[in-house]
Amino acid sequence: MPLPFLNILLLISLPFQVISQNDPTTEERSILLKLKQQLGSPSSLQSWNSTSSPCDWPEIVCSGNSVTKILLRSKNITQKIPATICDLKNLTTLDLGDNFIPGEFPRELYNCTKLQALDLSSNYFVGPIPDDIDRISGLQFIDFGSNNFSGDIPPAIGRLSELQVLQLYQNEFNGTFPKEIGDLSNLQILGLAYNDKFVPANIPVEFGKLKNLKTLWFTEANLIGEIPDSFNNLSSLEILDLSRNHLEGKIPSGVFTIKNLKQLYLFNNKLSGEIPSTVETLNLVEIDLSMNNLTGSVPKDFGKLQNLQLLNLFSNQLSGELPSSIGLIRNLTGFRVFYNNLSGILPPELGLHSKLEAI
Ligand SMILES: *[C@@H]1O[C@H](CO)[C@@H](O)[C@H](O)[C@H]1NC(C)=O
Ligand SMILES: *[C@@H]1O[C@H](CO)[C@@H](O)[C@H](O)[C@H]1NC(C)=O
Ligand SMILES: *[C@@H]1O[C@H](CO)[C@@H](O)[C@H](O)[C@H]1NC(C)=O
Ligand SMILES: *[C@@H]1O[C@H](CO)[C@@H](O)[C@H](O)[C@H]1NC(C)=O
Ligand SMILES: *[C@@H]1O[C@H](CO)[C@@H](O)[C@H](O)[C@H]1NC(C)=O
Ligand SMILES: *[C@@H]1O[C@H](CO)[C@@H](O)[C@H](O)[C@H]1NC(C)=O
Ligand SMILES: *[C@@H]1O[C@H](CO)[C@@H](O)[C@H](O)[C@H]1NC(C)=O
Ligand SMILES: *[C@@H]1O[C@H](CO)[C@@H](O)[C@H](O)[C@H]1NC(C)=O
Ligand SMILES: *[C@@H]1O[C@H](CO)[C@@H](O)[C@H](O)[C@H]1NC(C)=O
Ligand SMILES: *[C@@H]1O[C@H](CO)[C@@H](O)[C@H](O)[C@H]1NC(C)=O
Repeated sequence: MPLPFLNILLLISLPFQVISQNDPTTEERSILLKLKQQLGSPSSLQSWNSTSSPCDWPEIVCSGNSVTKILLRSKNITQKIPATICDLKNLTTLDLGDNFIPGEFPRELYNCTKLQALDLSSNYFVGPIPDDIDRISGLQFIDFGSNNFSGDIPPAIGRLSELQVLQLYQNEFNGTFPKEIGDLSNLQILGLAYNDKFVPANIPVEFGKLKNLKTLWFTEANLIGEIPDSFNNLSSLEILDLSRNHLEGKIPSGVFTIKNLKQLYLFNNKLSGEIPSTVETLNLVEIDLSMNNLTGSVPKDFGKLQNLQLLNLFSNQLSGELPSSIGLIRNLTGFRVFYNNLSGILPPELGLHSKLEAI
């Protein structure tokens, strides 16, 4: 073994090590330039060159001189995501939204072990969401909306315990969604809307466990059965949109006691029975219960909703008189009650206190 040779090797390699230790961005720049090439060098990435620091490129965010975010929204990307991307060991955010990326879910990303935010929305992805997606265990933000993902949404998604945002709207899912989503105790936004190829399904009782949920966006998702009573427990809810489904039964009595509720859309279902008479949701701005089969009278308490801007109750079987207090709501601009069986007179002060635009 010629020992001197080994020494020379050490001597040669030492300076290089020193350089790359001082400037980790040099190494990360070569990774990014390779990535650019693998993406077909789109002209949108012109500023990615070998003389500038990647931390100065508009699409890159660094922290402590190391790449942490890649923001490639609307960059005309047409290629699959190369495995190279996970050589950036500190990557936490990857935004690939609004491109033309084809193929199945990019499992290459399983090697991005620090990933927290993944936006694949508005691309050409197809096939299932893999049933071991929980391997990217630190995910806090998912937006896979507006793609052609199909099959079932896997129960594994309920094991991504850090998730705060889960957007799966507008896909081609032709299976089911899992009750395990109810286990996501940090979830604030859940978007499953515009998935009308779902197998008809009830809303899982377990969704009532989502104590931190602020937005439930579930329009046009082929929902059947009743709204579970457990929804009375969604105490953080601000936006509840279950419109354009096939829901039946009553509106749970507690829905109008969720303090922070601002928008309630239950229109275009088959809901029946009376509108709950106890109304404590004083922050409500919009209520749309139109196109159902609701009976009974319009709750007097609706007059308490001083923030209300929209009240749609048309196409139901509501009867009796409108409470005159509705005429006192100052910001009411949209008020539609046609196609019911209402009687009596309109609230005398309607339109005097607010700028009604539609009635
Ligand atoms: C994407 O391509 C279109 C059409 O080729 C072009 O008009 C647009 O400027 C491109 N966008 C970017 C960010 O390069
Ligand atoms: C490299 O990109 C930077 C901007 O990121 C630009 O200012 C510089 O002119 C570019 N250099 C070459 C050689 O293209
Ligand atoms: C990742 O970040 C840590 C802490 O900021 C840093 O020590 C390390 O060098 C970075 N890794 C790479 C590959 O740049
Ligand atoms: C992750 O990286 C390892 C080692 O580089 C490689 O063997 C493996 O195939 C990668 N996994 C994925 C899913 O790309
Ligand atoms: C996605 O689905 C739509 C509607 O079914 C279809 O028109 C489109 O061709 C599909 N796109 C891809 C990339 O599969
Ligand atoms: C769901 O859609 C995928 C993709 O279009 C198709 O391959 C699969 O057979 C469909 N599954 C069912 C149960 O319809
Ligand atoms: C609401 O939450 C409480 C406390 O966690 C629980 O005991 C109760 O069963 C829940 N109600 C419904 C209808 O799920
Ligand atoms: C409304 O309810 C009546 C009975 O109360 C029923 O006959 C009718 O089919 C229902 N309409 C809808 C659209 O569900
Ligand atoms: C009415 O609307 C205005 C402007 O949208 C807003 O500033 C005001 O707080 C609202 N008042 C009430 C009582 O909701
Ligand atoms: C409408 O209300 C009147 C009483 O005000 C009642 O006689 C009638 O049966 C109701 N019609 C429907 C379709 O419910």
